[in-house]
Amino acid sequence: MKDLLHAAEVPTAGSGAFTEPQPAIDFMRSLPPPYVVKTDGLAAGKGVLVTPDLAEAEDDVRSKLAGRSFGNAGRTVVIEEGFVGPELSVLALCDGERAVPLVPARDHKRVGDGDTGPNTGGMGAFSPVPGVDDAVVGQVMDRAVLPTLAALRRRGVDYRGVLYAGLMLTQEGPRVIEFNVRFGDPETQVVLPRLRTDLAALCAEAAAGGLRTEPEFEDDAAVTVACASKGYPAAPAVGDVVEGAEAAAAVPGVSLHWAGVDRDAEGRLVTAGGRVVWVTAVAPDLATARNRAYDGVGRISFPGMHFRTDIAA
Ligand code: GLY
Repeated sequence: MKDLLHAAEVPTAGSGAFTEPQPAIDFMRSLPPPYVVKTDGLAAGKGVLVTPDLAEAEDDVRSKLAGRSFGNAGRTVVIEEGFVGPELSVLALCDGERAVPLVPARDHKRVGDGDTGPNTGGMGAFSPVPGVDDAVVGQVMDRAVLPTLAALRRRGVDYRGVLYAGLMLTQEGPRVIEFNVRFGDPETQVVLPRLRTDLAALCAEAAAGGLRTEPEFEDDAAVTVACASKGYPAAPAVGDVVEGAEAAAAVPGVSLHWAGVDRDAEGRLVTAGGRVVWVTAVAPDLATARNRAYDGVGRISFPGMHFRTDIAA
């Protein structure tokens, strides 16, 4: 991905990919903190360490390259320059040539309040993002999404689908930290409830290479909070009975999006993964959406359940 971004002149972090620990560590020592160590393989959103602590970053490099963290998926690491600033996610629908942004969202990636603890696949999200207006989204489209789509086209890739730009808003402007070729989780939980236009029709236009409809959005705000299982992200507990779903769904404006869940032999909902259920609330403003989401979260319970209390705070 980095080659593509550099070719497209998209503002992104300097980086190097390594299969041996010492060159990776030498490169990392040449960078200022924070240090970013990424697994170059699938790691369920947990393959990234961001830390100001050089010793921790060096241990992580050794552990990933030795296959202790993610097996063979971790045997190449990417070391990146770390950025300081708030995060932003922009999902754009692409038809191969044209791209239109959906409303921006912000994800909370660390497990603990105040952005503490290990990275997760996301603990909550909200949209709209205060301070992020059409001009910022326009900048992301012009400097990141459209050049990436054009670079893909030059490589013979007719990309039709969602390009998801994960960015940091630095003093020098938006910087891409990742692209995904899919919708984002949990951003989707807060972007799609605000979409007024028919999603299927938009996807059909994109798939046919003729995206013509400009998506329209409600002015409403949306907030989603993950109820995570005991031990998430390191070792999520399974089989714990989940209670309170009906009461949570009864809160005005609240929907539940189920994820790491299953039914036991008695038909009860039980935990079956890290993020068990998302409590998503829509309301006329962010503060009300947040209150509603946490009202819903407060009605759900299972042994060891944990969640962040500062989503969209
Ligand atoms: N929000 C992170 C992801 O979908 O990868």
